[in-house]
Amino acid sequence: MFDIQKVRDDFPILGRQVNGKPLVYLDNGASAQKPQVVIDAIYTAYAEEYANVHRGLHTLSTIATEKYEGVRAKIAHFLNSGSEDNIILNSGTTEGINMVSYGWAAPRMQAGDEIVLSIMEHHANIVPWHFLRERLGVVIKWVDVDSNGDLDPEAVIAAIGPKTKLVAVTHMSNVLGTVVDVKAICAGAHAKGVPVLVDGSQSAVHMPVDVTDIGADFYAITGHKLYGPSGSGAIYVAPDRMAEMRPFMGGGDMIRDVTRDTVTYNDPPMKFEAGTPGIVQTIGLGVALDYMMDVGMDAIAAHEADLSAYARGKLDGLNWLNIQGQSLTKGAIFSFTIEGAAHAHDISTVLDKKGVAVRAGTHCAMPLMEHMGVGATCRASFAMYNTTDEVDVLIDALELCHDLFA
Ligand code: ALA
Repeated sequence: MFDIQKVRDDFPILGRQVNGKPLVYLDNGASAQKPQVVIDAIYTAYAEEYANVHRGLHTLSTIATEKYEGVRAKIAHFLNSGSEDNIILNSGTTEGINMVSYGWAAPRMQAGDEIVLSIMEHHANIVPWHFLRERLGVVIKWVDVDSNGDLDPEAVIAAIGPKTKLVAVTHMSNVLGTVVDVKAICAGAHAKGVPVLVDGSQSAVHMPVDVTDIGADFYAITGHKLYGPSGSGAIYVAPDRMAEMRPFMGGGDMIRDVTRDTVTYNDPPMKFEAGTPGIVQTIGLGVALDYMMDVGMDAIAAHEADLSAYARGKLDGLNWLNIQGQSLTKGAIFSFTIEGAAHAHDISTVLDKKGVAVRAGTHCAMPLMEHMGVGATCRASFAMYNTTDEVDVLIDALELCHDLFA
């Protein structure tokens, strides 16, 4: 049974005020707040259990290693990857996608080869491919979304040609909230022999994710959106792709043997984890995932579906508000502008005065903004701890903006 008050009580920051008003935190798409259990785990890890991992035989190193390595299994369970050996721990989605770009894609691509992207990718799933365009002459093929913000899986599959080496798509747009049918994309791409990378940064926060069922070759997640610390994350890599991938970074931990003339590598996934990792961040992420799974991913999804429907009804009632994206699969992320009103930054400043935190700007998704023909939007993005009362506060604050600016 989902108990919203209990969930809210678990997040200490939700009790604070901002500008003399109760905080209404609607910037979860950028980064989520942390429950007390995560904050406590960070404290304990540093105060009582800290040492480097994989390196020492002493007691503290053994405890830290066990706690750190235990997170791999939690992530495998969270994503239903079938094995913890398919999980590479890292600092977040950006590192995960860059690793695939350098370690898997670059060695098998040459000038004229193609990568298929949707127009609603986050820069983290664009810029690593621009690097390959710049260095190797790789061609980026863009697939547009329709006027509702939907991405047709058939359009993605149709864009795959004989020179396509990879499809890279988001599972949930960080701007429009559209949830993409990545399972259909994986099936169609695989039928053409092309692997698929899925950016799960937003989706894994809001719904149960099953990478085995989806059939993704690569699935990237980021800890700070999953109620865990920043600087934590992971990427699932399917076994065949893992075997094909070259290490992205060299250093300690990822080697088996180093001589003056040779190097041999550790077994995957550690082959892809060079240097001292984000030990405490990763331990914190494990506790955050435990917290989410204790609340229940189905319960979180159901609560957010109700919240989203309520918010959508209220926002649709403001006939001067332009909401970007009207997909039927839209999750609880709303980007908008106010007709005739000032810049999104000014709207965000007025909302902040009312205690409401939203993001304003181009949301690390400039190609999508250009496609939609908007310069900047405000974005309200919801989390498991948000309430319909908070939607009402947002609506009142938007009405004030309309009165002030429009
Ligand atoms: N990717 C984050 C966002 O959408 C930072 O805001």
